[in-house]
Amino acid sequence: MQQPLSPSLTAFAPAGHPLVRVEHLSRVISTRSQKTVILRDVTFSVPERSLFAINGPSGSGKSTLLNMLTGVDRPTSGRVIFGNEELGGRSENALARWRGQHVGVIFQFFQLVPTLTAAENVLLALELGKGGGLPKRDWRKRAQECLETVGLSAFARRLPSELSGGQQQRVAIARALANNPPVLIADEPTGNLDSRMAHEVFATLAGLTQQGKTVIYVTHDRELAARAQARIGLLDGCIVEQQGANALLVSSMEVGR
Ligand SMILES: Nc1ncnc2c1ncn2[C@@H]1O[C@H](COP(=O)(O)OP(=O)(O)O)[C@@H](O)[C@H]1O
Ligand SMILES: [Mg+2]
Repeated sequence: MQQPLSPSLTAFAPAGHPLVRVEHLSRVISTRSQKTVILRDVTFSVPERSLFAINGPSGSGKSTLLNMLTGVDRPTSGRVIFGNEELGGRSENALARWRGQHVGVIFQFFQLVPTLTAAENVLLALELGKGGGLPKRDWRKRAQECLETVGLSAFARRLPSELSGGQQQRVAIARALANNPPVLIADEPTGNLDSRMAHEVFATLAGLTQQGKTVIYVTHDRELAARAQARIGLLDGCIVEQQGANALLVSSMEVGR
């Protein structure tokens, strides 16, 4: 007879169950004279605890899609379902609150506050996100733990200008982890780094799936996309390739029609 999995093992069970489901999502920008379709009938899902890539050339709609996933921008039609919750139909305030609890965002250009140390940048996120429910007296310890997770506990008191680009991006990852969100979303996280630092940052992000996080990253780099466990490829706002993402494909012949 099979032994039941211990809770600690089930926590690290292979990824598979969809955490985010995107259904028939479209984004159209209309001006008086024309309509521009930026995303067209995009359907896919992100398996829980996976390293998930959104790949495609510049202008293919990757950042627009990320903004729909974080609720920063609203789709023209279709829906985003996160766990069992649908994002549509919420007020801006409700969405901002939801985002603070569920998603940590990482940007290409780090966006650290230059006058705050590494630890203070993480603490600021805790203050803005109310510590993800953690009592205030534990926030400093939490900030230090987040820096430790990204291998920077010895750099807590440094200003961003005293850190390398790769280290700054790892502080940004620590900040994204601060309120303990289940999902991290990164837009071209290594796009501003040389290859050694890019490797360091990518390895840090990939390692977070071992701690139960789902990591969604955007990249125009096919090689970096191929290292994900599941992915979609966008071209002109349509999904033209996928792996492990249950995506609805549009043949690249049809794109642009
Ligand atoms: N607010 C907007 N108004 C008009 N066009 C936009 C807007 N946002 C994005 N676009 C266009 O949509 C396309 C996709 O943009 P984006 O999502 O930034 O692509 P990517 O991140 O893949 O480079 C681009 O052609 C871009 O110019
Ligand atoms: Mg972009």
